[in-house]
Amino acid sequence: MLIKVEAIVREEKYEEVKDALNKIQVNGITVCQIMGCGTQRGYKEVVRGAEIDIYLKPKVKFEIVVSSEEWEKKVIDAIQAAAYTGDVGDGKIFSYEIRSAMRIRTKETGYDALQSEF
Ligand SMILES: Nc1ncnc2c1ncn2[C@@H]1O[C@H](COP(=O)(O)OP(=O)(O)OP(=O)(O)O)[C@@H](O)[C@H]1O
Ligand SMILES: [Mg+2]
Repeated sequence: MLIKVEAIVREEKYEEVKDALNKIQVNGITVCQIMGCGTQRGYKEVVRGAEIDIYLKPKVKFEIVVSSEEWEKKVIDAIQAAAYTGDVGDGKIFSYEIRSAMRIRTKETGYDALQSEF
C-alpha cells in the first residue's frame, strides 16, 4: 500500500520537522511554501493604523510517500512531535492512499520505486 502523508506546519518549524524526518530515514521528502488558514480563518492585524484581515498565512507543507501503514504512523508521529507548540495554528496532518509511484530512472513501480539502494 502506498500512502502519502501531507503535513502543513508553521514556517518556523521547518528545520525541526525536516530533521525529525531525516532522523527516521524516510526515502524522500517534498516541501513547499504555501498559504493557508485553519478554523480561526487567520487573524486581524493592524497595518499603518488600519485593521486588515490577514486571511491566509504562510505555512510550510511536507509531503512524504511511504509504503506501509507502519511507516505512515512513524512519519505522522515524528511530524506531530516536531511541529507541536500547543498554540492554535500548529497545523494539520493528512494521509491518503495513492494509486501509483514510479522511479523515472529505472521504471520501477509501487513499493520498489520507493526503496533505497543503500
Ligand atoms: N480542513 C482543512 N483543509 C485543508 N487545509 C487545512 C485544513 N485545516 C487546516 N489546514 C491547513 O493547515 C494550516 C494550519 O491549520 P491550523 O493549525 O490553524 O488548523 P486548526 O484546525 O485551526 O487548528 P488550531 O485550532 O490548532 O489552530 C492552515 O493554514 C491550512 O493550510
Ligand atoms: Mg487554526
